[in-house]
Amino acid sequence: MDLDRVFENNEAWIKEKLASDANYFDDLGKGQNPELLFIGCSDSRVTAEELMGLGPGEAFVHRNIANMVISIDLNAMSVVTYAVEHLKVNHVVVCGHYGCGGVKAAMQSADLGILNPWLRNIRDVYRIHKMELDGVLNEEKRYERLVELNVKEQCVNLIKTSSVQKAYRDRGLKVHGWVFDVHTGKLIDLKIDFEKYLRDIMEIYHLD
Ligand code: CO
Repeated sequence: MDLDRVFENNEAWIKEKLASDANYFDDLGKGQNPELLFIGCSDSRVTAEELMGLGPGEAFVHRNIANMVISIDLNAMSVVTYAVEHLKVNHVVVCGHYGCGGVKAAMQSADLGILNPWLRNIRDVYRIHKMELDGVLNEEKRYERLVELNVKEQCVNLIKTSSVQKAYRDRGLKVHGWVFDVHTGKLIDLKIDFEKYLRDIMEIYHLD
């Protein structure tokens, strides 16, 4: 890749933005007020804003391998706390994607070094849903189902945080689970019943 092209693209982008709104960057410089926190995979194909048709300032974004929300990951937990408590987003989205290399790696027996403890969290998702997954005989379909179940479990992990519990109570914050289909470009809402999960797990995970 010719990195000079990146800077040429940037100049062209500035011109394009200013052509339609002369104050575009003055306004952008004033601050951010995003409505949505997007937690997606680092995969180069899962371009958060582009696939949602949003522009700068509209989404607070966190990406890591396989869109994980892990309670002792200081990075992810800081993002969630900042977005929910300070930026006061009203929607938190976990967006997985079919063809996820992280999820695929977790389905295989291989020692991947430092990636082992990270991917173990996906193996735990497999263990929780083993009965259902073992019933899916087609390997590709089983892999797709694990992508979906992983999104669901990361939504549950969000519900376990005090930030999300308080924001739900105080202003009705919602958690959503989506999957991006890299084969078609389609964004699929898994329609996770966030309030049901909240009720189901609160007995154990209630923090506030
Ligand atoms: Co991925």
